[in-house]
Amino acid sequence: MVVANRLPVDSVTDSNGNQQWRMSPGGLVAALEPLMKTTDGAWVGWPGAADVVLEPFEHENIRMVPVALNAEEIERYYEGFSNDTLWPLYHDVIAQPSYHREWWETYVAVNRRFAETTARIADVGATVWVHDYQLQLVPGMLRELRPDLTIGFFNHIPFPAYGIFSQLPWRQQIISGLLGADVIGFQRVADAGNFTRAVRRLFGYETKGTRVWVPVGDSSDATTGDRSHVSGAPMRRVIARAYPISIDATSYVELAQRPDVQARARQIREELGNPRTIMLGVDRLDYTKGIGHRLKAYGELLAEGRLDAHDVTLVQVASPSRERVASYMQLRDEIELTVGRINGDYGSIGHSAINYLHQGYPREEMVALYLAADVMLVTALRDGMNLVAKEYVATRADLGGVLVLSEFAGASDDLRQAILINPHDIEGVKEAILKAVEMPVAERRRRMRALRKRVLENDVVKWSRVFLEELTQSATEHPVSHEH
Ligand code: F6P
Repeated sequence: MVVANRLPVDSVTDSNGNQQWRMSPGGLVAALEPLMKTTDGAWVGWPGAADVVLEPFEHENIRMVPVALNAEEIERYYEGFSNDTLWPLYHDVIAQPSYHREWWETYVAVNRRFAETTARIADVGATVWVHDYQLQLVPGMLRELRPDLTIGFFNHIPFPAYGIFSQLPWRQQIISGLLGADVIGFQRVADAGNFTRAVRRLFGYETKGTRVWVPVGDSSDATTGDRSHVSGAPMRRVIARAYPISIDATSYVELAQRPDVQARARQIREELGNPRTIMLGVDRLDYTKGIGHRLKAYGELLAEGRLDAHDVTLVQVASPSRERVASYMQLRDEIELTVGRINGDYGSIGHSAINYLHQGYPREEMVALYLAADVMLVTALRDGMNLVAKEYVATRADLGGVLVLSEFAGASDDLRQAILINPHDIEGVKEAILKAVEMPVAERRRRMRALRKRVLENDVVKWSRVFLEELTQSATEHPVSHEH
């Protein structure tokens, strides 16, 4: 069973006005779909709108189990605690996290609803895989309700250093909730290290490498660092380690080979006036993505005459996200002000320095954009992984294109042949952009070949297989023991 904040389907209305479900195009769905179909699995999640109360239903052979949220729960659990407390906190407080006790209470209540729904329908001894920061209490709650289950958890976003995490008034409850899992997965080795350090600091439990020893019965209610209860008690072993997520690379490679997609890429270049260089940014409109830093560097290069807006254009796709959260509204205003200024100063009739698109696009259009772009800019200030970087690389079978990649994105652990940048260093970003624009063809090809090898060899199917193998193994190894 998969438990995630969102169901992997979107509600669409067909031409006759009938409501239908359509599979969402995410990588997680692609990774788990074949497995879910063959194992009679179920996916527990929120349908994405307020007060949608639905019985479980089948879609494309997957059992969907909707969890209803009312408007107040969406405000407090999703927009509030998940996206205005945990999200900024876990992304190194780039924005100030808000701490509200009523948000926390709703987070607990909604996590309990997910856990109870799952506990009700899971077969005896089932494997349950819980996803992401919205549901960190679910592993602990599930273990209490159903000790027979094998429970995995994967955190898709960063896990912060203890100095930052310790701000959270409910830090012990979160760690306890996570420790209900048998295997806790993180994007980066550093994230797993931050987590085990928090476990030691808050609970004093023994950790050795990727293993954490948790006293049995202590997974969801331990609240102090007192270790006196530990000696002699039976211990449960929890694995906490990095499993860097990836994309369904083959589907991107196939899309990039389609003649209609390639024709669209050529059309995009033409519509942009066939500039010498097209640069591309693709992000949710989120303050973690460093869009402002990217625009600042680009604007300065234009101002200094080191780039000419007639030769180069930047396409910035900023897809709408979490639009009712104040920090996201403010970001939109800032970004759009900056785009307007740069275009006003450096554009000309029929040619803008920046093509700014506050829209989401289907995968075909994204791949056409990737194929059209000479330089891909990923300037995240903090990012769990950044799958856009991997998507760009997967599509470039022609070995063209240069990836500029922030070292603060998890993808940089793997994609060492990109031009790696510190996005806070604006001069460094400017140098990296110029290097990318001017990079000789032979070097582009050499770098892209190495990058593609990494992405094609480590796709999302491998990611889920490795995680689930570890989970199965940890369950069969009788992890409860008096010795370790
Ligand atoms: O990876 C982080 C994440 O929050 C996912 O959990 C989510 O699917 C995605 O980003 C988009 O965010 P949201 O569900 O808030 O629109």
